[in-house]
Amino acid sequence: MPKSEIIAAARPNAEWWRTAVIYQIYPRSFADGNGDGIGDLPGVTSKLDSLASLGIDAIWFSPFFKSPQKDAGYDISDYKTIDPIFGTNEDLEALLAKSKALGIRIIVDIVPNHTSDQHAWFQAALAAPEGSAARDYYMFREGKGTNGELPPNNWQSIFGGPAWSRITNPDGSAGQWYLHMFDSSQPDLNWDNPKVADEFDDILRFWLEKGVDGFRVDVAHGMVKRAGLPDATIYDENLRERSISNLTLEEAETAVPYWGQPAVHDAIRRFRKVLDEFDDRAFCAEASMSPLPRLAMWVRPDEYHQAFNFDYMTTAYEPAALKKIITDSIIEYAKVGASSTWVMSNHDGIRHATRLGIAPENTPRPGDGIHPSDPAPDEALGLRRARAATAFMLGLPGSSYLYQGEELGLPEAWQLEGKYRQDPTYARTNGKRIGRDGCRVPLPWVADATASNGFNTTGESWLPQPAAYRTFARNLQDGVAGSTLELYKRLLKERKAFVMGSGEFRWAEEFQDKNTLAYINNGVLVLFNFGPESVILPAGEVLVTTQHDLTAERELEHDQVVWIKL
Ligand code: NOJ
Repeated sequence: MPKSEIIAAARPNAEWWRTAVIYQIYPRSFADGNGDGIGDLPGVTSKLDSLASLGIDAIWFSPFFKSPQKDAGYDISDYKTIDPIFGTNEDLEALLAKSKALGIRIIVDIVPNHTSDQHAWFQAALAAPEGSAARDYYMFREGKGTNGELPPNNWQSIFGGPAWSRITNPDGSAGQWYLHMFDSSQPDLNWDNPKVADEFDDILRFWLEKGVDGFRVDVAHGMVKRAGLPDATIYDENLRERSISNLTLEEAETAVPYWGQPAVHDAIRRFRKVLDEFDDRAFCAEASMSPLPRLAMWVRPDEYHQAFNFDYMTTAYEPAALKKIITDSIIEYAKVGASSTWVMSNHDGIRHATRLGIAPENTPRPGDGIHPSDPAPDEALGLRRARAATAFMLGLPGSSYLYQGEELGLPEAWQLEGKYRQDPTYARTNGKRIGRDGCRVPLPWVADATASNGFNTTGESWLPQPAAYRTFARNLQDGVAGSTLELYKRLLKERKAFVMGSGEFRWAEEFQDKNTLAYINNGVLVLFNFGPESVILPAGEVLVTTQHDLTAERELEHDQVVWIKL
């Protein structure tokens, strides 16, 4: 069989962000230094050695800035101060110093689409009269109807319910409405106001001067809204870019006037200029755009460096679909000079060790969790598939994102009782949409050390761990052959040794049949057996395998992956 063409050429000396394995820390759930049940920065610093031994290149922190925590920190009230629940600015400096010494880069989360309603800018806007400069920081509008009693347009919050709330004037009369694409405690900023852009230039420089290596940009597809704020013409509860991917670019811009507007690119280019004042820093955009050629517009040479590949994350567990999304990703990003990213889990979705154990027809939409009354996922199958899917992902060229706990094979805590749930989606939909708390439960470090399995020394935990979490504790896996933790370590080690983050990549049809998928990256064959039959492996040194014991006959079972040095 003729060899298939090279899809990605080797890229020696690639910039760090093109190849980095970036580990996402959700600070409130990683490690708790002061025992109050909420993770914090000193907790993270105390565990940096274990991340270094995992072999990651960088950490992305979900927000740790001052915030009323209505959306777990994605509602910021002061962009330059660490929230006391996470520590102090000095704690961050200590963390930066230690991570630098360990060679781990730090990326922080910047939230430019909205602030908290407790931010001084919003409080000033509420106190100021209509039409004032203070109000112009946000999207205030008159209501419709005889007395302005109806919202200015039909936009809906991503968390459910209308995207507008009406304020009460200082004299008690009903006032204007303000836009909030998320919770009502998260008013959208007005990016048509150059003062807002000035503020963010300043915020970016503040953290760059402190030595952070880059930013993950929240809602990077939505900062600028369409002029005149026209009604959305595609309207359903699932108003996301993915639902408009069949439309032309122009149709999509009109149909969903709050996402993906052309003017957002001016704001991005301005961000990029600020970042480029500093050496070697990078942006990763959370741009919920689809299909890929549209997403690639966010990573053109003078825009962001990379963007999360959510279409990859949500691709069906099936060889043809996986092959297509990987090929398309490499090619579409390369057209604009970018490299692809890969991701399987984050703090907004069902952990992939559980997600891959759900039948496709029962899989909740992205951003929603599993309802306790939903059919139970097959957790053993989910974990087996998750290990395989990750092993396949980590051999790909480009940058990969890991979500804290996936290196333990941690499942979703999907049976959390309603009384614990804190995601605003849950409250805004009266529990109809269960929300994202199930993937945000604190990590188990040491089995039975405390009620929280060593998340802290007190046993407190802002969300309770399910009983099964103790069996996934890090100490039970560290150094244990075949554990998920050791699998991740091995994958990251071999990935680095063979420079696969920037390797020469092609599909390896000569090693495939209809139930397997195979590629070669820098001389390493990565083979995925989707099953149901086992397959006999070709000759070559097995570098790493998800299967605990390969038989002497070198049979690879279903839902397993192997890396072979050819
Ligand atoms: C995306 C973040 O990942 C999510 O957690 C948050 O709720 C929304 N943006 C709003 O900031």
